[in-house]
Amino acid sequence: MKQNAFEGLRAEIESLSPVRQIGRIIGVEGSTLRIAGFGQAARMGDQVRLTRPDGSYLGGEVIRIDADVATILPDDATDGVSLGDRVTLMGRARIAPHDGWIGRVIDPYGQPLDGQPLNRGQEERALRNPPPPPAQRARLGQRLETGMAVFNTMLPIVDGQRIGLFAGSGVGKSSLLAHFASHMESDVVVIALIGERGRELRDFVSDVLGEEGMARAIVIAATSDRSPLVRRQCAWTAMSVAEHFRDRGQRVLFLADSVTRFAEAHREVAVAAGEPPALRGYPASTSHTIMQLCERAGPGLEGSGTITAIFSVLVAGSDMEEPIADILRGVLDGHVVLDRKIAERGRYPAIDVLRSVSRSLPHAATEAQNDTIGNARRMLGAYAQNEMMIRAGLYSKGSDPALDAAIAGWPDLDAFLSEKEGQSIENSFNRLTLILRRANSGSSRQTATGNRSAEPRQRNSPKPTKAALPSPMAQMDSLTSTANNISGSKS
Ligand SMILES: Nc1ncnc2c1ncn2[C@@H]1O[C@H](COP(=O)(O)OP(=O)(O)O)[C@@H](O)[C@H]1O
Ligand SMILES: [Mg+2]
Repeated sequence: MKQNAFEGLRAEIESLSPVRQIGRIIGVEGSTLRIAGFGQAARMGDQVRLTRPDGSYLGGEVIRIDADVATILPDDATDGVSLGDRVTLMGRARIAPHDGWIGRVIDPYGQPLDGQPLNRGQEERALRNPPPPPAQRARLGQRLETGMAVFNTMLPIVDGQRIGLFAGSGVGKSSLLAHFASHMESDVVVIALIGERGRELRDFVSDVLGEEGMARAIVIAATSDRSPLVRRQCAWTAMSVAEHFRDRGQRVLFLADSVTRFAEAHREVAVAAGEPPALRGYPASTSHTIMQLCERAGPGLEGSGTITAIFSVLVAGSDMEEPIADILRGVLDGHVVLDRKIAERGRYPAIDVLRSVSRSLPHAATEAQNDTIGNARRMLGAYAQNEMMIRAGLYSKGSDPALDAAIAGWPDLDAFLSEKEGQSIENSFNRLTLILRRANSGSSRQTATGNRSAEPRQRNSPKPTKAALPSPMAQMDSLTSTANNISGSKS
C-alpha cells in the first residue's frame, strides 16, 4: 500500500515540468480571453491556469491561436479577471487512471467528486487519442449476456459493438443504461454522465445505479452547470479511462449519457472559437468530433481488450432525422429506439423493436435463432400494422391466419420484451421460441396461462435456474424445429 502511494507520488513528480510559459490577459471578448506572451509555445487544446488579482485560480483551454495572441475559453465564470492577469500555460490535459477508480465518481480532469482521496496510476494518458489503426483492429467478438430478454434475442450486442439509444427525455434512457451497467457481461464499466443536472447525478449514482451498479463502474461526470469545455472533455476522459482498461486486456462496457449534450458542448466551444454555425447551429466540425469519439470504442488491437459502447441520444419528438441522431446512426453498429407511447403504457424498457436494429445480426446468431428473430419481428409487424383495426374491433378472427397468430402471441411477446429476471441468451431464446409456437398453434394467452403448469417453464417464476429446466439445449432444438416447421408450413 505504501509502495503504491509512493509510486503514485513519483509518477506525479515526474510529470511536472520545470519550465512554464507565462502570458498576460490583453482582452476579454464575450466568453473568451485573449492572451499575449506565450510566443510559439501554445498549442490548440493546451490547458491554462489564470491567477486572479485576489489569488484565486481559473482554468481554461486554448481554442484559437493567432500571431502573438492565443484565445482561451475559461472553464468557469470570468468574474473578477482583469487586464494584465497572469496566465500559465499548463500543457496537455492528461489523466492517470488506476484500478482504485472503480466504484468512484470523478470529474473530467481526473479529480474525485465524492470528497475521498483518489489514487493516481503510474501511466499518464492523453484525453483525445486516435482510434486503433483499422487494419490492426480485432473483429467484433462473441454475443454478450445483457440480462434482458430483448437484447439477448432480437437485438443482440456483441463484444466491441457500438450502439445508440435514441429517445426523448423521460422515456427511460438513463434507467436502461443503469441496467446495462449492473447486468451486462463485462469486466469494467465506464460511465460518462454529460450535462445532467446536479440532482440527477446524485439520484443516478445512489438510486438508479446503486451499490450493485457501482461495484464495477467508474463514473466520469460533468453536470450541466460546468462549462462547455468540461462537458465536452467528460466524454473524452471517460473514453480514455475505458482505453486504459482495454489496453490491459479487459472487456470494458462504455456508457455515455448523452452524446447530444456532448455535441451541444462542442457546438458552444467551436462557436466561441469562431467556427461558423451550420445545420441547426452545429458547426461543421461536429460530425467529425462525434465520429472520432465513437471510433475510439470498439475492438482493440488483436490480443488486447474491447470497448463495447452504448451512447444515449436525445431526440426531440422521436425525430430521427435530427442532425446528431443522423450522424450517430451512420457511425454506429446498431440503434435502439425507445418510444414514449410504450413507456406511457408502462412497458419498460420502452423499446420499439420494429424501428431498432442490431448490425451484429445475422452473424451473431445461429440460423435457427435468426429464423426465430425473423418470425418474432414479422409477428410484431403484423400486429403493429393492424393495431388500430384490432383495437376498434373491426377485425374478425379467421380472416388472416398470420394476423390471428400475431393477435394470439402479442400479449406474451409484449411481456417478453420487458423481461429482465433470470435471463441468459439460451433461456431467452427458449422463451421466445415457446411464445411463437403457442401463437402459431392458435392458443390465446388465456389458454397459455391456464396450461402453465403443463409448460416446461413458468413465465413468472422469479429466476429459472438452468438446473431446474429439463435439458435446455434439447428443448431448444425441439422447439426451434417445431417453430421452423410451423413457419415452413405456413409459407
Ligand atoms: N424500468 C423502469 N420501470 C419503471 N419505470 C421506469 C423504468 N425506466 C424508466 N422509468 C420511468 O421513467 C422515468 C424516466 O426515466 P429516465 O431513465 O430518467 O429517462 P431519460 O433518461 O430518458 O430521461 C423514471 O423516472 C421512471 O419513472
Ligand atoms: Mg436521463
